[in-house]
Amino acid sequence: MNKRRKLIAGNWKMNGLRAEGVELARALANRVRTTALDCELLVCPPATLLTLVHDSIAGSGLLLGGQDCHPCAAGDFTGSISAEMLKDAGCSHVIVGHSERRHGCGETDSDVRAKVAAAWRAGLIPIVCVGETSEEHSTRKAPEIVVGQLTRSLPDGASPEKLVVAYEPAWAIGSGRLPEAAEISEVHAAISAQVPAETRILYGGSVTERSAADILRIPNVGGTLEGRASLHVEDFWAIACSCSASTTR
Ligand code: PGA
Repeated sequence: MNKRRKLIAGNWKMNGLRAEGVELARALANRVRTTALDCELLVCPPATLLTLVHDSIAGSGLLLGGQDCHPCAAGDFTGSISAEMLKDAGCSHVIVGHSERRHGCGETDSDVRAKVAAAWRAGLIPIVCVGETSEEHSTRKAPEIVVGQLTRSLPDGASPEKLVVAYEPAWAIGSGRLPEAAEISEVHAAISAQVPAETRILYGGSVTERSAADILRIPNVGGTLEGRASLHVEDFWAIACSCSASTTR
C-alpha cells in the first residue's frame, strides 16, 4: 500500500489567458498557504503562463508543471519547449505522453521514453500518461495494454521520487464517463507491479469533485489528474480536500 501523500494534478491544457490564469493560480495558492492539505497540489498551465503563474504562487507550496517537453535540451525545434526551459521557469513536474499528444500528435512510446529521459536530465519529475482507447477497452485487455505502453515508455532508472504514472483511459478523458472502480483497481495493480514500490500512480479522466473521494480510496491510486475540473477553483480545491476524506475513513 502506498503511504506517500497523494498528488492532485491539474492539467489546464490550452486554456487560460493571463488574467484568468493568474486569478486561478492566486486563489489556489492562497488556500494552500492557509490550509494543511493531505496531498500535494500541482498546476500545469499552458507554457505562456508558466512564469506568471510561478510568480503568483511563489512560496505557497503549490507546485508548477509543464504539459509536454521536447527530448532535446535546446536547438532548432520551432514551437517546442525543452525540459530545461520548464525547470528554468520554475517547474518541478512535466506531463508526458498525454493521450491528446499520443493520439492527436502521433506521439509514440519511444517518443515518450525520450521525453522521460529529458525530464530526468533536467531534474523534473515526469508524469507519464498511459491508457487504452475505447476499442481496446472493449477487448477487456486494458491492464496488459497499459502495462505494455508503460514499459515501452520508461527508460531504466525509475525511482518513486523521480516518477509519477497517470492511468488515463482515452475514452474517459473529457467524456464524463468513468471506468468501474474494479477496472481502475485492476489497472493500477498491474501498473504498480511494474514500477518501484511507492511510485505514485494517478487516475485521470473525467474526475470531478463528486467522484474524487471514491476514486482516491481505490487501492494503488496515489492521486488524480484532472483537466476540466482543474479550471475551477472550487472544484479543484474540493478534489484536493477529498484526499483527507479518502484517508480518514
Ligand atoms: P478531464 O481531463 O478531467 O477533463 O477528463 C483529464 C486529462 O486529460 O488529464
